[in-house]
Formats: sequence, structure tokens, C-alpha cells
Amino acid sequence: MNDIQANTVAVALVQAADRLKAAGAQTPELDARVLLCHATGRDYAWVIANGEVEIGPAARDGFAEMLARRERREPVSQIVAAREFWSRDFRVTPDVLTPRPDTETLVETVLSRIEDWDAPLHMLDLGTGSGCLLLTLLAECPNATGLGIDASPEALEVAASNAVALGLDMRVAWLEGDWCDGLDGNFDVIVSNPPYIARHELRHLEPEVRDYEPRLALDGGADGFAAYRRIVPALRRLGTGASVIALELGQGQAHGVAALGRVAGLRIADVDQDINRRARVITFEPASNG
Ligand SMILES: C[S@@+](CC[C@H](N)C(=O)[O-])C[C@H]1O[C@@H](n2cnc3c(N)ncnc32)[C@H](O)[C@@H]1O
Repeated sequence: MNDIQANTVAVALVQAADRLKAAGAQTPELDARVLLCHATGRDYAWVIANGEVEIGPAARDGFAEMLARRERREPVSQIVAAREFWSRDFRVTPDVLTPRPDTETLVETVLSRIEDWDAPLHMLDLGTGSGCLLLTLLAECPNATGLGIDASPEALEVAASNAVALGLDMRVAWLEGDWCDGLDGNFDVIVSNPPYIARHELRHLEPEVRDYEPRLALDGGADGFAAYRRIVPALRRLGTGASVIALELGQGQAHGVAALGRVAGLRIADVDQDINRRARVITFEPASNG
């Protein structure tokens, strides 16, 4: 049954959370609240504080429709077409990876290594997707400019719309490309969160990821390292000799990516952990600096 019978916020939330739990959603209460916010046009605090308020018929219908989608395990980010990243809202569509909290570790790493945030830095983001990484760095570094590359023109369209929404479009360029092919250097900051899931593991992912997120954003080839093998050898050429170079890592990939870096003439400056204490970000420096 797809209808929401409840008239009040509190009862609707309980009914919805029960249904989402039964459907296998990992955070049913949270999902129900976020969807109800979207259906009613109210914020989170209002929904929490107004349990006794009746929901109008239009909002109820909208909520029922969103719940049915979520029961099919469509991600909340795609249903509401947005996700917060580093305290800013990014548009999300099925053409881009939903920005992850884990990826904020990469932002943190890069910002901690930039000596002067006001400098006119030139930044490169390989596999930009929604643009969340590059646009966040540009927003934090007010005189920086950036280039975001992606193989997906649809993803670049989303990134460009996010740049406009954040008022950053004058400082960023987008390029449809195959990693670093044909690209010349001198970037002060180089970041990438490449696809890093081994192909045979894709079918074991949660339905939200496996069935709804773009394969191009996930598939790291037979062993998960295919994109790193393309990206890492080009990093020295693309940097300035003093660049901040940081790549996100999949689980258990730190040693393998570090080895690729050494072969490419890079020194491993650091491996940072995410909030779950997993090695998440590797930072390189040109070997001559070490
Ligand atoms: C894991 S997603 C990361 C998206 C975004 N940077 C983020 O952190 O949320 C990887 C991105 O790499 C892009 N990609 C995959 N293969 C590529 C290639 N050969 N050249 C450029 N980009 C590619 C995908 O389209 C996807 O947007």
C-alpha cells in the first residue's frame, strides 16, 4: 500500500519509518524525516517540533510518492535531488555519485596543506562528478581557479549547474576527457576521488549504490586500481613541484596506490584516515622534496 494514512507529522513519520525499515533501508527514521521535509517544504527542526500538525493533501501525496521510491531503495539524495557536502548543498542526479562524508576527509587534508588560502592557486579535479570536491576547494580559497575533468558529459552538466548555484562559475572550467590524456601541467592542487571498487565486488554493494549510482563512478576495473594506474603516472607532470596532490582511497588500497606513486617518482607525504579510521586519503609530493 503506497498511501500515507496519517494526518499528522508524527504519525506519518512513524508509519513511514516502519515501511522503510521493512524495505531494508539502513536509516529509516532519518530518511522519513528528510523526505517529509522535502514533501512539506519545511526544515528539519520544524518537522521535529511539529508532530501534532496536520499534513495537507498535496504534501501527503508527495510524501507517499517519495516513500514508494525509497522503498525501492532509490537513494534519498536522488529523490530530493540534493546532498550536503562540507556544509553546502549540491545538486544530485542519477548521473553523478552522491557526495560522501568520507570524501570530506580529502577536503580536510588538502585545506590543511595549503599554506595560503588566499593565493591564486590553480586546481585540478580528475573525475569531478557533481563537482563537490573542486567547488568546495574553490569556495574555501577565494582567489583560486579550477579545472574539473570527467568522462561523463551528463556529470559535467551537473557540476556546471552546481558551480552556478554556488556563484563559482567564473572561476571554474569543465572538460570532458579521459583522465589526464592530453592535459598539460602546473596545477598547484590536484585531487581525485576515482572509481575504485573492484568489478567483482560491485554486485555486493547496497542496492542504493549498485542499482542507482553511475557505473562509471564506481567501477575500478578487475582489481579496483584501473583508474589509479592511469592517474598516478601523470601526477608529476601535472604538478608544479610544490603541488598539494591528494587522492581518495578505497578500502585496503593504500599500499597499492603508494607503490604506484613511488614508481611514478612521487614521495608519500601522508595517509589520512576517515571518520571510521580507515586509510582514506593519500597525499603525494615529488620525490625530490623528500
Ligand atoms: C567516485 S566518482 C567521484 C565524483 C566526485 N569527485 C566525488 O568525489 O563525489 C568518480 C568520477 O570519475 C569519473 N570517471 C570515470 N572514468 C573516467 C575517465 N576515464 N576519465 C575521467 N573521469 C572519469 C566518473 O564519471 C565519476 O564522476
